[in-house]
Amino acid sequence: MQRIEELTEVGDRYFDGLADKFSRSLYQAPRGELRLAMLDYLLPQMLDLSQQPVLDVGGGLGQQAAWFAQRGHDVTLTEPSADMLNYAQAWHAESTELPPESITYVQAPLQRLNCELTGPWSLITCHAVLEWLGDPRAAMASLAALLAPGGQLSLMVFNRDALRFSNAMKGNLEKVLSDRLEGQGRRQRLTPISPVTHRQVVQWSADNHLTIEAVAGIRVFQDYLFHPPANEAERETLLTLEKQYCRQDPHWRLGRYLLYTLTKPETSE
Ligand SMILES: C[S@@+](CC[C@H](N)C(=O)[O-])C[C@H]1O[C@@H](n2cnc3c(N)ncnc32)[C@H](O)[C@@H]1O
Repeated sequence: MQRIEELTEVGDRYFDGLADKFSRSLYQAPRGELRLAMLDYLLPQMLDLSQQPVLDVGGGLGQQAAWFAQRGHDVTLTEPSADMLNYAQAWHAESTELPPESITYVQAPLQRLNCELTGPWSLITCHAVLEWLGDPRAAMASLAALLAPGGQLSLMVFNRDALRFSNAMKGNLEKVLSDRLEGQGRRQRLTPISPVTHRQVVQWSADNHLTIEAVAGIRVFQDYLFHPPANEAERETLLTLEKQYCRQDPHWRLGRYLLYTLTKPETSE
């Protein structure tokens, strides 16, 4: 099979050369703002937070690491892309709100963390990374191995079922019918190469003896709106609506992202 040059040997898409595009198209846009607002709302509800150290896997531009550091956690931000890591480090250095030396930066992919870092970790975040890997199922096993007994994994994945639904709404019916939903990871494209379903997360969690403690949908309405909010008041209303339904069945199931809290039992059989 032909290998796409932007992908690694194992088929992962590191974000080298994508930092500016990713920052512009996500975090400087309403969908990025909404994602951060929803994580700010949901993480304190879904996790037991006690200023424990955090391992942030595939931490990207560093927003999540900054969020935890501002709340008194020591954070180890790991990221295989030098571009993303440099961007995160430079942005954190400019911030006056971060406690000094609260974030450690490690350039490494998930697959190498077991050798590069001393674990296990009582809290791991892995947000929007699995969908950029050639083998997201194997990644769940790596994450489970890094987690301490009793530890919590905050996992967020790009939802394949939501991608199908939004493609249908846009009229891409042939694409939906043939289930050609994933991106190829070429050039500057940001359609994930391995979108994930809830069913897969359930299966992979069970395979690795992880318990799903909580689940929520992130952006359960925003991507399906015919008329995006036109002003601040409408954006606030949308945020209120997203908060109201993000954990309610059936709405969470079509969130653009699915956010999980997974735990590892204190004792493994
Ligand atoms: C969509 S970004 C998400 C960044 C950040 N977690 C966030 O939520 O904004 C995906 C990130 O996964 C990283 N990535 C790709 N392959 C990886 C791997 N094998 N291990 C860890 N991170 C990886 C990419 O370099 C990129 O920064």
